[in-house]
Order: sequence, then structure tokens, then C-alpha cells
Amino acid sequence: MKLLHLDSSILGGNSASRQVSAAIVEQLAKATPGLDVAYRDLATEPLPHLSGELFAARQGAVPESPAIQQDIAASQAVLDAFLDADIVVIGAPMYNFGIPSQLKAWIDRIAVKGKTFAYSEYGPKGLAGGKTVIIASARGGFYGAQSPVAAWDHQESYLKTVFGFLGVTDVRFLRAEGLNVGAEQKEKAIAEARGEVAGLVAQAAA
Ligand SMILES: Cc1cc2nc3c(=O)[nH]c(=O)nc-3n(C[C@H](O)[C@H](O)[C@H](O)COP(=O)(O)O)c2cc1C
Repeated sequence: MKLLHLDSSILGGNSASRQVSAAIVEQLAKATPGLDVAYRDLATEPLPHLSGELFAARQGAVPESPAIQQDIAASQAVLDAFLDADIVVIGAPMYNFGIPSQLKAWIDRIAVKGKTFAYSEYGPKGLAGGKTVIIASARGGFYGAQSPVAAWDHQESYLKTVFGFLGVTDVRFLRAEGLNVGAEQKEKAIAEARGEVAGLVAQAAA
């Protein structure tokens, strides 16, 4: 079984989503003998923005610059790693109501027509189903269903939409929120999220 672990927080050792994503992967590794784990830190090893030349090459255009060959190869490796994974664990903070641009750059590499989605006369069809995506979500405020600003959440809702579009129906969230309210709330929210890891792993591994 293969697991792809991604982090995207720019806060390094102070990151909440990194702590929670690491705890999820650690528990999954304990629960799954022989689990093959691949890791990428999208903040320290970022992908460039999707370029017009790369996009055109995906449609079959012959690349004009030799430099793009490297980008095409890197993009293919990112796509293959996603397609090969049975479980994808992503540390995904809320930045400016959405996801970090580093994570968006990764999504731009895996959302590929004919590989992870297709259009038909019946509408869009996801081609990357059969995997579990687990999101370690961290955010400064509160955006749960009861929150008056629930509609400002373009982070979890976006991730659910985009993975659903790619055919992944099993998308789970482990959330630590209210992290910027104060030190006490931050500690409590991270501890609660970490406390939920074992239950989530038991479900995901079942
Ligand atoms: C650049 C930046 C933008 C942020 N934007 C938001 C935001 O729009 N809403 C929010 O609730 N918190 C926001 N925060 C707070 C983070 O969501 C919070 O610090 C969380 O801990 C980030 O996860 P991390 O610790 O894994 O990086 C922002 C933080 C940063 C660094």
C-alpha cells in the first residue's frame, strides 16, 4: 500500500497542520505493515506555477523551450505519485480563506484532463477514484457549520470539491481551528485534533 504525504505550511516548526499530518502518517504507518510512504514538502520544495507552455504541451503541442522538458518531467512525476497513492495525507492550512499557493500549484499538476478527469456528454467524470485523501486542516478562525462566517471557508470546501471532481469520494478532514484566537485555544485545538488521529486511522485502515 502506498501513501503520499504532503505539507504546504510556510510556518515550518510552528505549523499546526504539519504536526497533525505527521501524527496521521505515523499512526497509519503503525497500523499498516509495509506501508510505502513518499513525502514532499511543497513549501521548501515548491512547484512552479502552471505555465502556458506546460499546459499546451499537455494538449500535445511541441514545447518551444528546452527548459520546459524539465518541468514536463517534474509534472509527470507529481501526477504519477498522486495516481499511485492509495492514501494521500495533506497538511493544508487556511491562508487568505483558501489554501497556500504552494498547494494550489500541486493541484494544478494533478488536475489533468484525460488522466484524472474527463468530460463526457453526461458532464465531468473523475478518473482518480479508489483512494482516500486525509486533510490535516488548520485555521486561525472558526468556520464550522455553526459559524456566522462558515461561507468564508474556501479551503476545506475547495479541497472537497477538487478531489471530488477528480473522482475521490473518500475525503476526510481532521481540523484544528481558532488557532489565532490565543495560545490556550491553539494548544487545545491541536491536542484535540491529535486526539482524533487514532479514530480516523482506524476508520481509514478498516
Ligand atoms: C499567510 C497567512 C494567511 C492566513 N490567512 C488566514 C485566513 O484567511 N483565515 C484564518 O482563519 N486564518 C488565517 N491564517 C492563520 C492560519 O490559518 C493559522 O495560523 C494556521 O495555524 C495555519 O496553519 P499552519 O500552522 O499549519 O501554517 C493565515 C496565516 C498565514 C500565515
